[in-house]
This record gives sequence, C-alpha cells and structure tokens, in this order.
Amino acid sequence: MALSGKVTVVGAGFYGSTTALRLAQYNIFKEVVLTDIVEGKPEGLALDINQSRSIEGFETLVGGATTTAEGGGYEATANSDVVVITAGLPRKPGMSRMDLIEVNAKIVRGVAENVAKHSPNAVVIVVSNPLDEMTALTQLATGFAKNKVMGQAGMLDTARFTNFVASKLNVPVSSVKTLTLGSHGETMVPVPSRCTVDGKPLSTLLSQAEIDELVDLTRNGGAQIVALLKTGSAYYAPSAAAARMAKAVYEDSKEVMPVCAWVDGEYGISGVYLGVEAEIGKNGINKVVATDLTPSELESLKVAAEAVRAKQADVKNL
Ligand code: LAC
Repeated sequence: MALSGKVTVVGAGFYGSTTALRLAQYNIFKEVVLTDIVEGKPEGLALDINQSRSIEGFETLVGGATTTAEGGGYEATANSDVVVITAGLPRKPGMSRMDLIEVNAKIVRGVAENVAKHSPNAVVIVVSNPLDEMTALTQLATGFAKNKVMGQAGMLDTARFTNFVASKLNVPVSSVKTLTLGSHGETMVPVPSRCTVDGKPLSTLLSQAEIDELVDLTRNGGAQIVALLKTGSAYYAPSAAAARMAKAVYEDSKEVMPVCAWVDGEYGISGVYLGVEAEIGKNGINKVVATDLTPSELESLKVAAEAVRAKQADVKNL
C-alpha cells in the first residue's frame, strides 16, 4: 500500500518519541516529523528510528527538527495532516496534573500558535497536562474549529481500567470492555455500568468494593507510575492511545473512542472540553456519542464538567 500523509509530533520526550515510533511502525504514513526545543534531540531520535526500519519492516520516514519558541524550525512540520502536541513538563512525584497548568500553558500556547501557522488544516491531538485545560487552550490559540482539536485521555484511562479488570480476574484484556469519561484528573469518571467481561456485566463478577478498588486504581493510574518512575510520567500506554487516535483521524475510520472533545448539549452539558466518547474521522470529531449512564455516573460527569469548565476559563489568561 502506498504511504501517504504527514503527522507531526511536538515534543521529543519519552511520550513524543514513543508516539513517533508507533506512528512510523504502522507503516501507513509517508512522513512523521518529531520536534523539540532541545537542539539535536529530535534529529537524533529520528535517525535512530529510521535505522530500525529495515529490521522492523516499515518505510515511513521520520524527520527531526529542532524548534525555537519564536517559531524557528516549524517549516519542517508544514502542512501536516495531524499534529500531536506532547510539549510541556511531566509531573514529579506528589504533583497533580493541575500543578502543571501555569508552566505548560505558556509552552502549549506558543506551540499551538506555530502549529496553526504552518499546518492550518491539521487535526490537533493534545496530550499535554492538565489535559482538558491544555486542549481548550490549544483550540483558543490555534483558532481552529472545535471539532479539529481534541485531547487524549479517555483511551488511556479506559485502557488502564481494562488492564486492572483483566489482571484482577485473570482474563484476557480482549475479553474486557471498560469506559472512563470526565476529566483526565481528579474528576475522572470510570463508568462501571459500561464494563463487561465476555459480555457479562462487571457487577456480576466482582463485588462493589472490588469494583471501587479498581476505579480508584484507574483514577490514580498515572500518579502510581509517576511515583514509581520518580522522574517523568507514563508513556507506553499514553503513546499507544495518542498514536491510535492519529491513525483513526488519518484513516477517517469513524471509530468511536473515549477522547477529550468539545461538548455542546450532550448529557445536558454545553460549552466545555470534556472526556466523552466520540466518533473520530478526518475532520477530527465527527460527533460526540452519548451513552446511557446511571444517575450517579451522570451526576459525576456533570461535576467533572463544571470543575473542568472553571479551570478552562482560567487558562484563557495564562
Ligand atoms: C498519565 C499522564 C500522561 O496519565 O497524564 O500517565
């Protein structure tokens, strides 16, 4: 199959470089561009990935470009179809994602402006933390239509939930379906009523206390890894989620995925970027897909929406 399309990954830390590697290994894109402000790092990592091509059997070429805050180097990203923004600092042990808001807002705003200038038709996938706020900020700074900007979080949180359920029950992950909505933070909303194992409701296999324990593990999934790593945050599962989203956009797959999307009326919630299920295609978010929730899950989603809305309002001034 002929390769086509261009994806840029901004930020060549572990999250960004692993995302670039995964995208390249799909062997569908003509070009993947990795950028960073650390001189030489993206170029070096791009060479390294390219040198794995003959072993792993993929033809996608990875390019590296050092960029500056003033916008130098962004020419290499021009006319990307999809841009994944991983720029910003990760958490340190004990920090919440929200502790990063001021420092990352400055970084993400600058990146988003440069991305918009060089790739005016791109769909942008944001992964920088705090995720829901950085997604809202990116939409503002790019001036792109709201459907063209989304955040990666729900796929990751859902994958963590699935892994915890599969490990607890000692079943294949492929037999487990879970869902998380809401924010990628304190007000994450795992949705046990949508969780099944081989089609059987989770509540028939585990007690409420056991489900609550897995929900807690999921909500703290990122922090647990930050605490263990001591420096940096998770990147294997996060990059898997971001790369899948970029692929779904580029292939116009119309898959329904849990993502951070602009919500306008669904669940009785309006005017906020929030973790929901949405259909993904070449224009970004085709539509938000509302699911049946129990009254308490719906209430938690509304609480998440209001918490995120307040912070997204703050972000405008950062
Ligand atoms: C996490 C970070 C990447 O959840 O937000 O691991």
